[in-house]
Amino acid sequence: MLHGGGRMLAVWITTLFLLDAAKGREVCYNRLGCFTDNPPWSGIPGRELAGVPSSPAAVNTNFHLYTRDNIRNYQKISASNPSTIKTSNFQAYRKTRFVIHGHLAGADLPWIASMCRFMLHVEDVNCILTDWRDGSSGLYTDAVNNVRIVGAELVYLVNLLEKDYGYSPANIHFIGHSLGAHAAGEAGRRKPGIGRITGLDPAGPLFQYTPPMVRLDPSDAKFVDIIHTHAGHLFFDFAPGILQTCGHLDFYPNGGKKMPGCRQLRVPPAVRNINDLMRTYRSLGCGHKRSLRYYAESIITPNGFVGYQCETYRAFISGACFPCPKGGCPLMGHYADVFSHKTEKEHQKVYLNTGPHSPFARWRKEIRVKLSATETMKGNIDVALTGTNGIRRKYTIDKGTFKPGNTYLNYIDTDISGNISKVEFRWNKHLGHVHQGCMGAEEVIIISGGDGNVSAFCGRGSVQPSTWQTLMLC
Ligand SMILES: *[C@@H]1O[C@H](CO)[C@@H](O)[C@H](O)[C@H]1NC(C)=O
Ligand SMILES: *[C@@H]1O[C@H](CO)[C@@H](O)[C@H](O)[C@H]1NC(C)=O
Repeated sequence: MLHGGGRMLAVWITTLFLLDAAKGREVCYNRLGCFTDNPPWSGIPGRELAGVPSSPAAVNTNFHLYTRDNIRNYQKISASNPSTIKTSNFQAYRKTRFVIHGHLAGADLPWIASMCRFMLHVEDVNCILTDWRDGSSGLYTDAVNNVRIVGAELVYLVNLLEKDYGYSPANIHFIGHSLGAHAAGEAGRRKPGIGRITGLDPAGPLFQYTPPMVRLDPSDAKFVDIIHTHAGHLFFDFAPGILQTCGHLDFYPNGGKKMPGCRQLRVPPAVRNINDLMRTYRSLGCGHKRSLRYYAESIITPNGFVGYQCETYRAFISGACFPCPKGGCPLMGHYADVFSHKTEKEHQKVYLNTGPHSPFARWRKEIRVKLSATETMKGNIDVALTGTNGIRRKYTIDKGTFKPGNTYLNYIDTDISGNISKVEFRWNKHLGHVHQGCMGAEEVIIISGGDGNVSAFCGRGSVQPSTWQTLMLC
């Protein structure tokens, strides 16, 4: 819907020196300035379909403030009407976190709306949901253009806070999902000194492999962290998220392309158009939304989502980059800024695994099982871990041929968050295996990836196949 079209102060100027009639346009608004479709905004590889944005009135960016004094009902604040801020619960001594949604969304979507509630549960901040549903509700390509207006609106508000309240941009954190991530990047490009930007599965189409100016990149804030959850290429794998690194820390949970618990979607065969694809994707976008859900859970799980800095996901899976080095590991999500080496380099890749449904956090452990047996056996070996909280989980450590005295190891991602109080061992013979011997675990060593804690559990004797042997701390 369009608001107050008559009030619009747009001035359309067709410049004469560009031959391409579709390019070289500029729109100007007295509050936010001018926007052109000159390169790199449009007319470069990957951005052919981009253009100038709609008017600020049509994009209709609204700021909904939540604080601990109003957790349930937001207060609408506007820099065009500073008294709305003065009479609100905004406090200049607090950090301010903005949550910015993406295409075909609004601030009332459940996983957007819950973000402020989660934060206010653990911290005293100004939490502002940025609603630009009018600008995001049309074609994907139009929403891409409107990201520039949202970025400018964010800066218009930040500038007012700076002027009227002496509020430092360093205390500002933008959290943007999908196109909202690039709106945050645009705000950071326009306003130097923003403290942090978190990109939650930043949109790929029209941004992937484009110049840093038009997309989120590490120069947009003092610290930029990214969570990639459905990264790839729209036409090859129907992925709406950006695959390339675009922050200081780029987290790729589960490899960043395919989330456990999400069905892998196929490109609808008849659809070959970006706008149709993005609209089709919208209703089904499980992986794309996971970035929001991981972030929300991370707020209330301060020791969860430990990430491992590794060159590739394959290396991480095989156990490389384990356990965390002396300086510690970065945490994915809300507490990523605690990591002391966070801005040492740009484009640092970080990997971790999550569970298939909520709660998603997992803790990675290396399990080493030293076997005692009378003879070489064929089959598989399992361990069951019991946490001090009583949770018991079974894991298969290895399958194949086992030699007495040898140690077999594997990596697991467990939902047991604390210390382990008990370990059990079990083996199963291969079908048709004729040996009559017994097998036991002489020792099971568990290394926790996050803190490097090594604990040894000792067993006595061996057990028959398919029965559990209990081991206790040595
Ligand atoms: C694990 O054990 C250590 C040392 O006994 C203790 O400091 C820590 O709080 C325990 N962790 C949990 C989650 O119980
Ligand atoms: C290391 O882990 C063991 C077993 O889970 C636990 O008993 C011990 O308290 C932990 N130590 C520390 C320092 O966390």
